[in-house]
Amino acid sequence: MNAPRFDGIVVGATLATLDAYAGYGMVEDGALAWKDGVIAYAGPREPMLESDSVEVHRFAGGIITPGLVDCHTHLVFAGDRAAEFELRLQGASYEEIARAGGGILSTVRAVRAASEDALLAESLPRAQALLADGATTLEIKSGYGLDFENERKMLHVARRIGESLGVTVRTTYLAAHALPPEFANDPDGYIDAAIGWLPELHAQGLVDAVDAFCEGIGFSPAQTRRMFEAARELGLPVKLHADQLSDLGGAALAAGFDGLSADHIEHASEDGVRAMAERGTVAVLLPGAFHVLRETKLPPLELLRAHDVPMAVATDCNPGTSPLQSLRQAMQLASTHFRLTPEEALRGATVHAAQALGLHDRGVLRAGMRADFVHWRIRRPAELCYWLGGNPADGVFAAGERIA
Ligand code: NIG
Ligand code: FE
Repeated sequence: MNAPRFDGIVVGATLATLDAYAGYGMVEDGALAWKDGVIAYAGPREPMLESDSVEVHRFAGGIITPGLVDCHTHLVFAGDRAAEFELRLQGASYEEIARAGGGILSTVRAVRAASEDALLAESLPRAQALLADGATTLEIKSGYGLDFENERKMLHVARRIGESLGVTVRTTYLAAHALPPEFANDPDGYIDAAIGWLPELHAQGLVDAVDAFCEGIGFSPAQTRRMFEAARELGLPVKLHADQLSDLGGAALAAGFDGLSADHIEHASEDGVRAMAERGTVAVLLPGAFHVLRETKLPPLELLRAHDVPMAVATDCNPGTSPLQSLRQAMQLASTHFRLTPEEALRGATVHAAQALGLHDRGVLRAGMRADFVHWRIRRPAELCYWLGGNPADGVFAAGERIA
């Protein structure tokens, strides 16, 4: 007898494959089979398929989607910023708190004080929460260390999270996040130092992409450009915290470096959007930060649609502006605040999010893609954007292995 063709197969649910330019790509009474962690079949159920598999999972209804991809998180951090949240409720702004040495710098103090193991222990539950709610790929940024040793510690913790949970973690070097006290009044000197740490961190296999916070309370476009040039020399792709609180031309700057993504972009101009369209730069929408900061300026959604810029949705999970530990909840907020259709939100948390990480082997259910998928206890995909709280994820699989 020949060896079975498949390592595993799931049946008894409807597939939302997203395997088309538009529409959910629904396959009623579908089957999804995989071999060596890769999808070998996604389509209508045929009895023969089941006899050809080592393992058969039978569901009684529900929907299977591609595994969710959280393409923008700062989930490695120590402590919390609930006190700052209370200050903001009393009227202080995010910028005021940052300028007074709180904000990002208060998390920097907590991260520097934590051992690597303590940092891992604090961060792991946040990654687990994201997985339990359907995420199978995570991006994790540094940016709360702001010196060589502590940036290295954060990136190493990010790698350890991927190894211990069995999911893909893409790491992003975000040393250009805030100015550490050692370099007060010398942002250019700090950028020089941060550029200097990058080759060694990259050589240690800790960096997949480079990011910066290009903002009045962050770094200037010229400083951002210098960091990006250093990334380019090492062959590393870039992405950018762009035009979140003001329009500094960040979207166009990221696109000019063939950036994987420009993120936030509430204040981006039409020129910025056009540049993104030309260079294939994904718009990463972060409705959690918009919600928590009670922002009112919407990202330029109509322009993004008109110019056909792919839109991704991510949690931005971080202690300051977005203590959000569910990508499905981010999809809900994207629908409510940004009026993304549930289909846009689902593409935004799967195939477009994968594109924002430079990954082209996931985000749709199709033979040849990674067997990353989620079985949901829902009747229609729009429910993913409809429920607040709860958790309809019934089974989460990464490369064919059940992880939640
Ligand atoms: O994406 N804007 C900068 N970075 C984060 C916030 C980080 C923080 O406040 O700790 C963001 O919103
Ligand atoms: Fe962010």
